[in-house]
Amino acid sequence: MAKNWCIGIIGGSGLYDIEGIEDEQWLALETPWGDPSDEILFGRIDDVQVRFLPRHGRGHPISPSGLNSRANIDALKRAGCTDILAISAVGSLREEIEPGRFAIAEQFIDNTRGRASSFFTSGCVAHVSMADPVCPRLSEMAAKAVTAAKGKVATGATYLAMEGPQFSTRAESHMYRAWGADIIGMTAMPEAKLAREAELPYALIGMATDYDCWHEEEEAVDVAAVLKQMKANGALARKAVLNFIKALPKTRKASPIDTCLDESIITAPNERD
Ligand code: ADE
Repeated sequence: MAKNWCIGIIGGSGLYDIEGIEDEQWLALETPWGDPSDEILFGRIDDVQVRFLPRHGRGHPISPSGLNSRANIDALKRAGCTDILAISAVGSLREEIEPGRFAIAEQFIDNTRGRASSFFTSGCVAHVSMADPVCPRLSEMAAKAVTAAKGKVATGATYLAMEGPQFSTRAESHMYRAWGADIIGMTAMPEAKLAREAELPYALIGMATDYDCWHEEEEAVDVAAVLKQMKANGALARKAVLNFIKALPKTRKASPIDTCLDESIITAPNERD
């Protein structure tokens, strides 16, 4: 019997394809929220269904502020995903997360502005819990998959989501460190919030590409540094994704996130649109 997982992979900068995928087909999906970043690659790895979405679109035409995360998450849900593994290039706010190391996110601080960040805007109001924003079982499997790919990994990272597209000022970089953030990026919010609203367990592997601009002995981040590190680590990231999928247990046990809306909708049933 085929495994009952269907894994949605959201690939960040530098990750525009999936290793080892079979029966591939790029399909355009429509959603009530508009168009996702790109077509979705449907396929399978062994007996696991896989759906891949390049977050910024193939060729990277979409900026972080321009992402339609509602359409992206909705399309992955419609594509049958049971779980989402997101990959993102991130800056490091900690000495011990050196460029080249992978960091598994455990918490998020959302410092983005003006992004559409909920499916529940009117007609039906829901307040999902974001206290524990990632799925622990996916995160644990993600860390093991990076290690199996011979990558260096840090776990339990707090991800600061900034608006961008400009990188941070030094004052901001120091402030985010004081807030307790470990890694910084421009894309995981509201993606992770929307995944929760869609009842999709979510985990994020950050690939540290730079020390942002707080580090006194390192150059401040620029695109060249990010691209150089992405290139160096791209193959490893692809291998980690493949390991992750191959190591999934045979049976996907239910997660409390699968039904989290049951206790989150506040609008009376007869008043919902
Ligand atoms: N992505 C990669 N490096 C980053 C940084 N320093 N700040 C924000 N996003 C990033």
